[in-house]
Amino acid sequence: MARIEVVLGDITREKTDAIVNAANSSLEGGGGVDGAIHRAAGPDLARAGRDLGGCETGDAKATSAFRLNPPVIHVIHTVGPVWRGGGNGEADLLASCYRRCLEVAAETGARSVAFPAISTGIYAYPAADAARIAVRELSAAPAGVEEIRLVAFDEATRDLLSAELDRAGTGPRDARLTAWVYGRVQGVGFRASTRMRATDLGLNGSAANRDDGSVQVVAEGPEHACRELLDWLEHGRTPGRVTRVTRRWGAPSGAQHGFTER
Ligand code: APR
Repeated sequence: MARIEVVLGDITREKTDAIVNAANSSLEGGGGVDGAIHRAAGPDLARAGRDLGGCETGDAKATSAFRLNPPVIHVIHTVGPVWRGGGNGEADLLASCYRRCLEVAAETGARSVAFPAISTGIYAYPAADAARIAVRELSAAPAGVEEIRLVAFDEATRDLLSAELDRAGTGPRDARLTAWVYGRVQGVGFRASTRMRATDLGLNGSAANRDDGSVQVVAEGPEHACRELLDWLEHGRTPGRVTRVTRRWGAPSGAQHGFTER
C-alpha cells in the first residue's frame, strides 16, 4: 500500500516522479494548477498535450515534464468533472480521475506521485466530498506507486485532506528508510552531519561506512521526517560530495534507539 501524506504548497515544486495536472479536455493549458504547471514546464507541454488529442473527463494521459525535469519525469493530465449539483455522475467521474492517474503512474513506472485537489477550484467541486473521494481512491494505489502526496494549495484544503486521511486510517505512519549514499562521503564528517540531521528530525537509526565506499543510512520514525532526511541526503548541503543515493522503504523494526554512527 502506498504511503499517502498531505502537504501544503505549490505542486510545481514537488520532487516526485510524476505530478498530476487538473487540466481541461484540450490539454493545452488553462488557469489554476493547470496554468501553474504549464508555466513551470514551458510551452512544449501544451504542444505535447495537443499531440495527445485531448482527454475525456475522468480519464488521464501522461506527457513529459519538460522544464520540470529534473526531478519530475512525467506530468499526468486528468480532466475532473465540473460540479453541477451532484446529479450528473460527478462523484464517479472524480473517482475515475484518481484511479486513472494511478494506472497511468504505474504504467510510466512513477514510484512517487503528487496530486492537486482535482476539480475543487474552477470546477467548484465541494472540497470535503472531493477529499473523501481522493483518499478512498488513493488508498487503493497499485503496486509500484510507493509514495503519494496530496498537495493542498491552501490551509482549508490541507485540513480537509488531513482529516480525511486520519479518518481513513491511512495517515502518516512510521516508516523505515534505508539509503545508500555514494560519492566522496566517507571520512569527511558526513556520518556525523547525518546523525545530527536525523536527530533533529526525531529519527532513530544509524549511518555506517560500507566497503563499496558508500555510507548506509538507516532511519526509522515518522514517514515525513524520513522523507525530509532523504531529501537532505539527496539535495541538502552535506559534507563531502554526494553523487548518487539509492533507497528502499519498509516497515519500522522498532529496534533502533537513538541515531548512531558506525
Ligand atoms: N499547486 C497545487 N495546487 C494548486 C495550485 C498549485 N500551484 N494552483 C491551484 N491549486 C489548487 C486549487 O487551489 C484547487 O484546490 O488546485 C485545486 C484545483 O483547482 P483548479 O486548478 O482550478 O482546477 P479544477 O478545479 O480542476 O478546474 C480545472 O481550471 O485551470 C483550469 O484548465 C483548467 O479548465 C480547467 C479547470
